[in-house]
Amino acid sequence: MHILITGGAGFIGSHLVDLHLARGDQVMVVDDLSTGVRANLIAHEDNPLFRFEQADVLTWDRLGHVVGWADRVYHLAAVVGVYRVIAEPTKVLATNIAGTERLLRAAHDGGWKPQVVIASSSEVYGHNDEHILHEDQDLTVSTRAGTRWGYSVSKIADEALGLSYAQRFGIPAVVSRFFNTIGPRQVGRYGMVVPRFVAQAVRNEPITVFGGGLQTRSFCDVRDTVVALDSLATHAGRQTVTANVGNDREISIRDLAKLVIERAQSNSVIKDVPLREAYGEDFEDIRRRRPDLARLRTLTGFHHRHKLEDTIDDLIATERRNMAGEKDGHCTLVRTKSERAA
Ligand SMILES: NC(=O)c1ccc[n+]([C@@H]2O[C@H](COP(=O)([O-])OP(=O)(O)OC[C@H]3O[C@@H](n4cnc5c(N)ncnc54)[C@H](O)[C@@H]3O)[C@@H](O)[C@H]2O)c1
Repeated sequence: MHILITGGAGFIGSHLVDLHLARGDQVMVVDDLSTGVRANLIAHEDNPLFRFEQADVLTWDRLGHVVGWADRVYHLAAVVGVYRVIAEPTKVLATNIAGTERLLRAAHDGGWKPQVVIASSSEVYGHNDEHILHEDQDLTVSTRAGTRWGYSVSKIADEALGLSYAQRFGIPAVVSRFFNTIGPRQVGRYGMVVPRFVAQAVRNEPITVFGGGLQTRSFCDVRDTVVALDSLATHAGRQTVTANVGNDREISIRDLAKLVIERAQSNSVIKDVPLREAYGEDFEDIRRRRPDLARLRTLTGFHHRHKLEDTIDDLIATERRNMAGEKDGHCTLVRTKSERAA
């Protein structure tokens, strides 16, 4: 198969690259490296089945050509992470919506109609935080919405674009509503909770819990996420599908902090930080996020292989290796060939 991955140097995208190259598919990545890094793809640099291009999906002049080459396109390129979403609200809307529209238009104009997998998010459920979240329920964004909700709106627009191009022009769309995804290569600096807790725990620093810690989330290991996503796309074939992709084990953020402390055998204490202090005045948190996975399971028979405890152990081990590298004065980041040559 020929696979195009926009945003493929990022966290989820780079694991999709691993999965498809291991299967012998040809993979092309386009990424502007705004949050992704080449180091995530270093293992494939010499693989003749792999190609990388650094470009912005909004302006990349080869988009039409490569979309015409692809059997499946994973569209992951987006402005992501709660800190960026708060700091750059207009960029979130412009990049996420215009990028998806440009991609779908290229798929239509080329006439080849590859399958397009659109990375949506549990954030489309907005203020629905009472129940387990099912794909067919209404999506409600609050009128009290601050800038955070631009991200939800952008993902709702992406979904609507995908479904409209599918209905009007027969481009098969798979809309994947990712719930919290965690695992190797995720970075904490854009506001992701698990890498932040792990970094604090291994340094025996206070674990900063925002907003009381009673809010719950459901975390899925990225290695499960990409298997589920591929399986969903394969089973969907030329059909259009919207499905939740995640793990339905629910944990409060305070219990997550305790779990990370326990797994790291850390001396960290939990430090409560009011939401306002963490994210600014108009930030509203979601109390609960748990996916209904019946559709994913019925369509694919998918089951998870990674337990939360195992993922946290992996992340702790990696963080400790990185810290040891820093102390020895070694750079733990891997450089690309061209960077080495320069
Ligand atoms: N990680 C999660 O828990 C989660 C949850 C819900 C939805 N998602 C969605 O999944 C996708 C991947 O997220 P991720 O967690 O891997 O984040 P990420 O930041 O690691 O990946 C996004 C990638 O897109 C690239 N990118 C951004 N704008 C671009 C542009 N204009 N042109 C080309 N490349 C661009 C970035 O450099 C990065 O490599 C995103 O669309 C995100 O909204 C992720």
